[in-house]
Amino acid sequence: MAADLPWWTRAVVYQVYPRSFMDSDGDGIGDLGGVLARLDHLSDLGVDVLWLSPVYPSPQADNGYDISDYQAIDPLFGSLDQLDELVEALHARGMRLLMDLVVNHSSDEHPWFVESRSGPTSPKRDWYWWRPPRPGMAAGDPGAEPTNWQSHFSGPTWTLDPASGEYYLHLFDRKQPDLNWENPEVRQAVHAMMRWWLDRGVDGFRMDVINMISKDVTPDGRLHDGPPLPGSALGDGSGSFLGGPRIHEFLAEMHREVFAGRDGAFLTVGEMPGVTVEQARVFTDPARAEVDMVFQFEHVGLDHGTSKWDVHPLRMRDLKASFGRWQAGLSDVGWNSLYWDNHDQPRAVTRFGDDSPRYRRDSATCLATLLHLHRGTPYVYQGQELGMANFPFATLEDFADVESLNHYVHAVSAGESADSVLTALRRMSRDNARTPVQWDASPSAGFTTGTPWLPVNPDHREWNAAAQRDDPASVLAHYRRLIALRHEEPVVALGDFAMLLPDHDEVYAFTRTLGEDALLVACNLGRRPQPLFELLPRAKEAPLVLGNLPIEDAAVLGPWEARVVRLP
Ligand code: GLC
Repeated sequence: MAADLPWWTRAVVYQVYPRSFMDSDGDGIGDLGGVLARLDHLSDLGVDVLWLSPVYPSPQADNGYDISDYQAIDPLFGSLDQLDELVEALHARGMRLLMDLVVNHSSDEHPWFVESRSGPTSPKRDWYWWRPPRPGMAAGDPGAEPTNWQSHFSGPTWTLDPASGEYYLHLFDRKQPDLNWENPEVRQAVHAMMRWWLDRGVDGFRMDVINMISKDVTPDGRLHDGPPLPGSALGDGSGSFLGGPRIHEFLAEMHREVFAGRDGAFLTVGEMPGVTVEQARVFTDPARAEVDMVFQFEHVGLDHGTSKWDVHPLRMRDLKASFGRWQAGLSDVGWNSLYWDNHDQPRAVTRFGDDSPRYRRDSATCLATLLHLHRGTPYVYQGQELGMANFPFATLEDFADVESLNHYVHAVSAGESADSVLTALRRMSRDNARTPVQWDASPSAGFTTGTPWLPVNPDHREWNAAAQRDDPASVLAHYRRLIALRHEEPVVALGDFAMLLPDHDEVYAFTRTLGEDALLVACNLGRRPQPLFELLPRAKEAPLVLGNLPIEDAAVLGPWEARVVRLP
């Protein structure tokens, strides 16, 4: 039966954020030449898939998540020839390529939007969401926006176009206008573009905020206000665009139009902020043919208060309850994706681990073991396999990310102190994930011969790929072992999951079972030694499969120790 399951149930995906991965031409910005030059790193690691964050032409307002041409490569990153070369080189090494599909919105510089903006009678006017001011108000009046929704990147989701007196919708930055998926021409254009990439040999798509493409709109075109946000004149519009009324129809249609009947072994993963496990079951039910797996956000929201900038410590019980629910909810139908880090999250070793010199390596490998032993497809974000940590940002000038900068402006003008906003940015800014990959100990970490677009983390002199490559005790070597384990052991890929010790505050433990084969996984997510055999007597007679630390006393789980044992 295992053999009938899709290939990606045994796969590990590696995410490349090209800007920060490797620069081959000395302009300080990573590029496709750099990716091609570092493919050995990926094959040494043993990953099966490379997910490439956007490399399309873009004004780079959101580092490529604002696309102005879906069927080309930005010269900043290289050429279409190099993309073809990458497909070929990956395939030759037995790996596959996942492209980023960003079609909830385009750039405001995409010819479609330029045409749409040209006036109310434009044939593409209806490709985007244009609306007059709120009834009874004049364009530009405070509060005249068509709805009260707050953008994900601060401020209203509507920007006024003075020429026509109408507003356009952007759930993200004003340079990222939302496409109108109600219009069948938009959907057909997206499908055609996707087929064009598959024809070039790519193996699937990671679909950016794909659960936002359907908006709850009345037959006469009205959109609804959301509940007011505390302390703000704006409201939460998510009820109108997260998992909107036609989302399943749009995804099923996309699957039919793009993938159905095509030869090949594809992978689709839908990024879905706010998705619940019940909804994920529906989205990933193979019988419905929508997407193979989703990125959910529950676990990376557990340390948020009223917003991501309001940071709270993670409570272990909450993490167990959340992961446990996802493992159970997708055990018979659908599939999980597993991640700690990506280009939108601060570094997990700083956030959930312990990046003090004493425990950085141990906590990085412990968190990795925990995640990679769950059921689902693990995603490794560039640098995570090296134990890369948050950056020591000093001042506001050190940040580049549009989300961080917009937040600063809005929070400070709303009366928050600059210091407290900076403190939150240091912990949560996406720039933490975007500093250059640390290849070696040289001044620019082997990333570029020029000046890197974001500074390299000063800790690269110690934490880098060259230092770890041949060190069996390194974070890198541990990732290699975890990835190999998933390939070798069907129980790791496919076994049933059962959570143990749900109320323990520091030990995260579970079993994985496939037929007669059972593994027990125990991870100590803290600095205090834990009495393993007392907590989990079954661990006593169980031989070690994989651990992250030398074992001194088998009965004790040391600080940040992770152990995988085979139950007799
Ligand atoms: C997704 C991307 C993020 C981007 C946003 C808007 O969340 O991962 O980087 O800013 O969508 O495209």
